[in-house]
Amino acid sequence: EQERTLILVKPDGVERGLTGEVVRRIEAKGYRLVAVEMRTAPRDLLELHYAEHAGKSFFEPLVEFMASGPVVAIVAQGDRVIEGFRSLAGATDPTKAAPGTIRGDLGRAWPTAVTQNIVHGSDSPESAEREIGIWFPLLGE
Ligand code: CMP
Repeated sequence: EQERTLILVKPDGVERGLTGEVVRRIEAKGYRLVAVEMRTAPRDLLELHYAEHAGKSFFEPLVEFMASGPVVAIVAQGDRVIEGFRSLAGATDPTKAAPGTIRGDLGRAWPTAVTQNIVHGSDSPESAEREIGIWFPLLGE
């Protein structure tokens, strides 16, 4: 079943020049790019995007970090792309992410690596629809 997902190359990924590598892996898997845009996200957008984490200990540092520089926001489409990109990304903690995944291959093993973990991908169809609406409000079906 064709789905869309919202992917972010986080500021650490952009800063390290990994945008092309992330896009390459998305396309190599057979997913299509629907939208790609680089921008420095305002805090209010990030607070909406991460609303489910509001109040958690990592919320403030996460929003702060995500606002610290440009991100590349991507909408990708494909068969079961939501689950598929989560597999490509690997576990949230790069230390635990399997080799062969974006975080497993490229993630750093330093204390802030769970926040600075290169990419974000929507975790469910509901999240994907909500997040695409936040980042690309003008994008049609
Ligand atoms: P992301 O997919 O962007 O969604 C929530 C983010 O919170 C997650 O990736 C991590 O970068 C970040 N985060 C920081 N600390 C934690 C933590 N302890 N547990 C889960 N996510 C965390």
